Amino acid sequence: MNKKEFVIAPSLLAADFTRLGEQIAEVEAAGAEWIHCDIMDGHFVPNITMGPFIVYACHRATKLPLDVHLMIEKPEQLLKAYAEAGAALLNVHVETCPHLHNTLQQIKSLNCKAGVTINPGTPASFIKPVLHLVDLVLVMCVNPGFGGQEFLPETIAKVAEVRQMLDEINSPAWIEVDGGITDETILSMWNAGATAFVAGSFIFRNPNGSAAGIEALRRAIIKG
Ligand code: DX5
Ligand code: ZN
Repeated sequence: MNKKEFVIAPSLLAADFTRLGEQIAEVEAAGAEWIHCDIMDGHFVPNITMGPFIVYACHRATKLPLDVHLMIEKPEQLLKAYAEAGAALLNVHVETCPHLHNTLQQIKSLNCKAGVTINPGTPASFIKPVLHLVDLVLVMCVNPGFGGQEFLPETIAKVAEVRQMLDEINSPAWIEVDGGITDETILSMWNAGATAFVAGSFIFRNPNGSAAGIEALRRAIIKG
């Protein structure tokens, strides 16, 4: 993953799965940096989405890094399967990992970037003991499970808190935000210190097309 000032990661959850390859090619051509894959198991979250088989199909469809967001119980049991399917980054939720430190080490040993994710109801301080291990912190801006939900503004302060914790240890880790990101909400998160932006509906359901969605997100930050 090349480090740029900020990255846009379209979430496939809002894509048309009857033409997944084309949808990925569209956002790749439009300059998206990562592809965000939302993995849901029907237990940790009430929805079910894709497994390693579909992630591998995405991997074959693009050169972009796959940012794999594991909304599943016992993620440690499936890390290897997702790594082999082509994940560049594996994000695990702090809420699902009683042995978080160990789980993050396992991700590293699989040669993937390691991400830790926190739900809106989880304090930022819960991830402090592992911050030196992670390449990315994903701050959820909605409760995970579904696309198209409304952005929770109270998560802005949490991003600022994570930014401060990372700066204190001089960590270059990304801060990624996910849920309800639009051209109206993105700037507040950028100003709070986020550097990677996941957007599903705003990109794939954009009335002007996915390329226009990506462009509008970039413009909202650059105009600032
Ligand atoms: C929610 C997922 C998100 C979701 C974002 O559980 O983690 O990645 O797809 O979708 P939008 O951008 O539509 O809120
Ligand atoms: Zn996600």
